[in-house]
Amino acid sequence: MIASTSIHIERTTTPKAKPPQDKLGFGIYFTDHMFIMNYTADEGWHQSRIVPYQPITLDPAAKVFHYGQTVFEGLKAYKTADGRVQVFRPDANMRRMNLSNDRMSMPEIPTDLVLDAIKGLTHIDQDWIPDGEGNSLYIRPFIIATEALLGVQPSQAYTFMIIMSPVGAYYPEGINPVKIFVESHYVRAMIGGVGEAKTAGNYAAGLKAQDAAKEQGYTQVLWLDGAEHKYIEEVGSMNVFFKIDGTVYTPSLNGSILDGITRNSVIQLLRHWQVPVVERQLSIEEIYEAGKNGKLEEAFGTGTAAVISPVGELNWLGVKLVINGGATGGLSEKLYNNLTGIQYGKLEDEFNWMVEV
Ligand code: COI
Repeated sequence: MIASTSIHIERTTTPKAKPPQDKLGFGIYFTDHMFIMNYTADEGWHQSRIVPYQPITLDPAAKVFHYGQTVFEGLKAYKTADGRVQVFRPDANMRRMNLSNDRMSMPEIPTDLVLDAIKGLTHIDQDWIPDGEGNSLYIRPFIIATEALLGVQPSQAYTFMIIMSPVGAYYPEGINPVKIFVESHYVRAMIGGVGEAKTAGNYAAGLKAQDAAKEQGYTQVLWLDGAEHKYIEEVGSMNVFFKIDGTVYTPSLNGSILDGITRNSVIQLLRHWQVPVVERQLSIEEIYEAGKNGKLEEAFGTGTAAVISPVGELNWLGVKLVINGGATGGLSEKLYNNLTGIQYGKLEDEFNWMVEV
């Protein structure tokens, strides 16, 4: 059941000091307010409110702690040069959140109410949107199962929250190619599992491999499919693209790959520019083959946090493959400039992606 209510607002009386704009990092500081609403099977979603940012109290038996019934989203708000505040494709995040909810046996959220909550919260805390090249306000909606019961069934109670964090450019010196370890032992997700849901367990499952890659001097891992360790899925917590002989390839959405909003935006931009783009199953072998033949021109990850993250080197079973001489490719740069140009209001929003707050 979906209940729609208006949002009650309680403003803080003790606003916090803003962090230094040149040391924001990612997800370290949080704004003055948060949104919260509750769900019970009887009442649906209710008590939607914006309140001062504060800790919450949960029963130790709350199901989220034991069985991981939780989903989250990530999106950003930007301040334009002429002082407008705009959010990138929040409707797409809400749609995806309901797909994740469905996969995790969690209740649907009322998307109109939640969009109002995102706008309302961003409006109230708009002074927290940092100025400066590459800075933005990261918005983190999430839902947790709160029923205090250890039986393995879907929770009958949930809490939905939105918290917000002023964040810096993912790469302070602009986009920089990263070194990636092709993971042939651990897997992130399996077809039929929860890989396409934005749920905590997918990220927990990746930490061990990420740590091992870091120890060997790699920034992240390239995930291969869970059954055969043959087909490419994602890079770190991002979707991945390869430019081979003028055509751009990305793994097709197969159920174990997250349907990234930046991924979708990149595909739309490429089609608009009439750059051939193909979504299909892609093997790591063919990427190495293209590299050997001099046809692999660029590789890059796409995500909300970094937008575009060029890949400068792969290591698959000890064999290194340097891409584009380890430098940022022209298409990666063009995509980054166009996406951020639209987000910061410097370029025309031809796709109607930005929602003004
Ligand atoms: C992103 O690229 O935006 C991500 O998914 C990373 C996020 C979980 C911090």
